Amino acid sequence: MKILVTGGAGYIGSHTCVELLNAGFDVFVLDNLSNSKTESLRRVEIITGKPVTFVQGDVRDRECLKAIFKAHEITAVIHFAGLKAVGESCEQPLNYYDNNVYGSIVLAQEMEKANIKKLVFSSSATVYKESAVQPLTEDMPLGTTNPYGASKLMVEDIFRDLEVADKLNNHSLPWSITLLRYFNPVGAHESGLIGEDPNGVPNNLMPFISQVAIGKLGQLSIFGDDYPTIDGTGVRDYIHVVDLAKGHVKAVQAMLNGLTGVNAINLGSGQGLSVLQLVEAFESENNIAIKRKIVGRRAGDIAEYFGSAKKAKKLINWQTELDVNAMVRDSWYWQSKNPNGYE
Ligand code: NAD
Ligand code: UFG
Repeated sequence: MKILVTGGAGYIGSHTCVELLNAGFDVFVLDNLSNSKTESLRRVEIITGKPVTFVQGDVRDRECLKAIFKAHEITAVIHFAGLKAVGESCEQPLNYYDNNVYGSIVLAQEMEKANIKKLVFSSSATVYKESAVQPLTEDMPLGTTNPYGASKLMVEDIFRDLEVADKLNNHSLPWSITLLRYFNPVGAHESGLIGEDPNGVPNNLMPFISQVAIGKLGQLSIFGDDYPTIDGTGVRDYIHVVDLAKGHVKAVQAMLNGLTGVNAINLGSGQGLSVLQLVEAFESENNIAIKRKIVGRRAGDIAEYFGSAKKAKKLINWQTELDVNAMVRDSWYWQSKNPNGYE
């Protein structure tokens, strides 16, 4: 069975290709390489010993999608392709809506024409409204504060409308769409062959810590130690990217086994971890001191969030298996083996 993976050369996509191939699926990757390199896919082939079919193309290119669906028997689509930087989305909102929203519409239209109606979509925990109640469950109020988050929520809403339309039209082949709301993906494949390869200075905590560890960056700035959390630093739900990748395989398998409709599912561990706890885990697991200082809060950050993992267990039989030690160990192994990423 062949799965189309849009954005499959990227960080989460490449790890998902490994898990799909390990589970016996064939993988077809469509990626415009705007934020990735084909080297990641070459390494996926090394890890798995299996081939990946790759086409360089844009998910907004209708003719490209038509040609793929005509030439290949695609069973389901996993849709990672999109832009993901919150700050950049505030500077370039049209680019974000074009890539993330329009791209998803074109994809769904061409899938519908080709009668392929199983889709996994990369959503984000950022679609939740700020909440005093934790953990976040999938039925909690939604609301976003930046164009990136808005683009994810819009696509979720568009896909939810497809379920309504299927019912109204009494469609014989209804959509089955899984909206996976990721919490904070970190880590890398244990081989050290694939991992996160951010452009320039990383925005996210884990790649920043790794680059301090390797000496590319002088010290970590911890954004605030006066939050109402366990130690005053921000709390997030970190999830190992390999667990996250396996969640996509489980979602595809659940849809093949009859999961229908549009289902939003958290992919998180169910537990929060503070910035300091993550830094200290990195230090003790890897035996490296991370130089750091406390600075002011980062604009737009919230104190704490983590997700309930119960619905994922129930609907797609998924839960995390890798703990924080594996996250920091694998992040460091990838960074130390590839100081300049895929270059
Ligand atoms: P990434 O940038 O590494 O991967 C995205 C891939 O999509 C890249 O290879 C890029 O070249 C490709 N791409 C972008 N626009 C495209 C287009 N129009 N057509 C074809 N290919 C295109 O990012 P990632 O961290 O792997 O994230 C994957 C998905 O998960 C994204 O949709 C992102 O918004 C979502 N997500 C990521 C996080 C995170 O923290 N990494 C959290 C929540 C959700
Ligand atoms: N942090 C620091 N120093 C840094 C970077 C981060 O102290 O140099 C702190 C932040 O203040 C926060 C925590 O580390 O408390 C995590 O920050 P990240 O930037 O790694 O992650 P966020 O939770 O802010 O955001 C991430 C993605 C978003 C996505 C969101 C929800 O970057 O795109 O998770 O899924 F929307």
